Amino acid sequence: MPKVRVTRRLHFAAAHRLCNAAFDDAQNRAVFGACSNPNGHGHNYQLEVTVEGEVDPTTGFVLDVKRLRDLVSDLVIQDLDHANLNVDVGWLDGVNPTAENVAVRIWHRIDGHLEGARLVSVRLWETERNLVEYRGE
Ligand code: NI
Repeated sequence: MPKVRVTRRLHFAAAHRLCNAAFDDAQNRAVFGACSNPNGHGHNYQLEVTVEGEVDPTTGFVLDVKRLRDLVSDLVIQDLDHANLNVDVGWLDGVNPTAENVAVRIWHRIDGHLEGARLVSVRLWETERNLVEYRGE
């Protein structure tokens, strides 16, 4: 059977502040700039989750993309949407919520829950110009 990759895009809005707790205010300002402003700021994130699997000859699908949507919605979007990533999300505790760190944690939320398909990548757009991608390495 041919292997095909399937991507679902989802959206969430969230606030965060970038800071390293081990730094003082001046160091945080030097490393993270305005992203370390004490009261935080927000982004409209786009999340792209890509899976790979064999095309099921009876359905013509790798997987039902609605199932992928529901899974990512339940495990990820529900927790992140309209949240403060520094304080509201248990599975981000202790993490400086850069796009890189959030993408890695999202991977671990989803991986292992995809029957019949393999998680290939988590792509997180923090702005229209900034994209990070994690592929489980
Ligand atoms: Ni930011």
